[in-house]
Amino acid sequence: MGLVEAAGFSKASWGASGQAAEESRRYCGALEEGEILFFRQTPFPIPEAHKRFLLNVRQPNTAHHKNISYKPGRNRVLGFARGTADEATLVGIMHDYSQAVCNFVNALLLPYAGNWQLDYASFRPIEEEGRDLPVSKRNDLLHVDSFPTRPSNGNRILRVFTNLNPAESRIWLTSEPFQVWAERYGDSAGLPQIAAHSRSPAHQMLRRAVRLGQALGVPLTDRPPYDEFMLRFHHFMKNNSSFQKDCPKSRWEFPPGATWLVFTDMVPHAVLSGRFALEQTFFVSRNALLSPEKAPYRVLERLAGAPLTG
Ligand code: SIN
Ligand code: FE
Repeated sequence: MGLVEAAGFSKASWGASGQAAEESRRYCGALEEGEILFFRQTPFPIPEAHKRFLLNVRQPNTAHHKNISYKPGRNRVLGFARGTADEATLVGIMHDYSQAVCNFVNALLLPYAGNWQLDYASFRPIEEEGRDLPVSKRNDLLHVDSFPTRPSNGNRILRVFTNLNPAESRIWLTSEPFQVWAERYGDSAGLPQIAAHSRSPAHQMLRRAVRLGQALGVPLTDRPPYDEFMLRFHHFMKNNSSFQKDCPKSRWEFPPGATWLVFTDMVPHAVLSGRFALEQTFFVSRNALLSPEKAPYRVLERLAGAPLTG
């Protein structure tokens, strides 16, 4: 488990020859192994004026929203302190940022180009060290990501982070990839029960009813067994103090201006300190993966001996 520096992308020759295709597959392969893809300097444009603006945006202290989030589909921001920034300007800046990251990801990760769905972006102005959040929301505890309101059905959570802080690094811990922990803790986190339950006629009927409700416009979440487990595993990891204490850890310092990409559904991660990060999330189609057998949904289906998506 480590970090791969993506030096080839910044070269002017990128995209000009077959070399980009080859390098790009190497980067996707590294991400799918559970590596962090690292850029010492931000590899897409963010205007200086936008950075200056963002560094003055604040969140209210209410902890209702963990970050300032931007929903590209609706072109809206949530969770910033009105009075510290003009909303329309902030929306415009987050829109431009989100677009720049999409263009970058399409150019960098050619096998995934166009094979993703855009999720939320966020700006994280609060110092992470010493945040007072409930356990399930704490990001200083190692965990894999799973979103309660946006099930992925086996598609992958790819996140792009940029440290906008002009002076301080953002500090992360990571641990061994998903497979290790699924093998060790899958049973105690409830995988056999979830797999058995997913086959029961009552459960299948309930999911059909939820989907019917959704089609009629009722705001319900249809959660496939894969997402049921991943959400449980997210909480299980955060609540497991022996895992938190004893698991092998790598510590990373992401310096000012750095950008890094990681499949956060596979790599247990925690942020120990830092403020002012930008982040964009993608759901990468599981059909676009170069090594689908390493994907969490396939790892879990092997362990459970049953399909968990669909
Ligand atoms: C997380 O996804 O756990 C947060 C990481 C960060 O904000 O740096
Ligand atoms: Fe996370």
